[in-house]
Amino acid sequence: MPLLLAFDLKDYWKLKTYMLEQGTDLKATLNKLTVRYSDQGPDNAPVVIFIHGFPFNRSMWDLQVKDLQDRFRVVTYDVRGHGDSETGEEEFSIDLFSKDLLALMDFLKIPQAIICGLSMGGYIALQTVVEHPGRIAGLILCDTQCTADTPEIIEKRMATIEAIRLKGVETYAEDSIKKLFAPQSLKTKQSNVAYVKQMILDTDEETLYNTLHALARRRETCDQLHLIKVPVLVLVGAEDKITPPSSAMMLHHGIKNAGLEIIEDAGHVSNIEQPEVFNEKMEKFMLHFEKAVVR
Ligand code: MLT
Repeated sequence: MPLLLAFDLKDYWKLKTYMLEQGTDLKATLNKLTVRYSDQGPDNAPVVIFIHGFPFNRSMWDLQVKDLQDRFRVVTYDVRGHGDSETGEEEFSIDLFSKDLLALMDFLKIPQAIICGLSMGGYIALQTVVEHPGRIAGLILCDTQCTADTPEIIEKRMATIEAIRLKGVETYAEDSIKKLFAPQSLKTKQSNVAYVKQMILDTDEETLYNTLHALARRRETCDQLHLIKVPVLVLVGAEDKITPPSSAMMLHHGIKNAGLEIIEDAGHVSNIEQPEVFNEKMEKFMLHFEKAVVR
């Protein structure tokens, strides 16, 4: 039989679709907006989806993607309004961001994934796992928390919105990096600090306001942590001032069998401040899933 006839046409289209979907700068139309994402790695491997924090974009995971993409299918995306993704018409909320995550998974034909989320990314991951447990195979919760904002924190967020309106994004970015990084990193990791500052400056001002409101309105998930039955790793920078180790410990205590790793000399953006240590902990955790790869 000629080789061409032995090849099932269905496989040809599958291969073609797969080839089209591989890359670092891809677009998906979902929930009435265009979301930019990257999708790399073997298509028969377990899928890891990385969700960035606020107000960053998917490029914050570049070093983690590089580390995993030979063994895992690795997806990163820009949460609506952030990076190169469109904003859409709906009011921002963690629920809406979770709906977008599920829509992206549907679009990419991913029934189940391991989710790695930092801070806001962790809020989205937690919301999704408690409401749609079947879609989540495992979690890496980085520098995040299950609590909702206290009235004082909500007040601070509203004051931040006013301050951005009055003083501009440059001052906001400058103030933010002082809270985001460990004091040591501010001195020794200046290119990383400049990089994070640039991500903040690149974020649309309306997205800053809309997301600050969404964060302020978010629900707590602490009461539902016991429902999480998948493998979980909680990671936190020892000097994280935004979501400190005490928040990570709360997650660790609430989720049965979760692992906890505290990363020294790191603040809130632990994956950027200490990528080698972060990746080592992440890789060790990912061994849970690597066994499932069909080769
Ligand atoms: C983040 O990094 O996503 C934010 O710090 C989250 C927050 O402000 O609650």
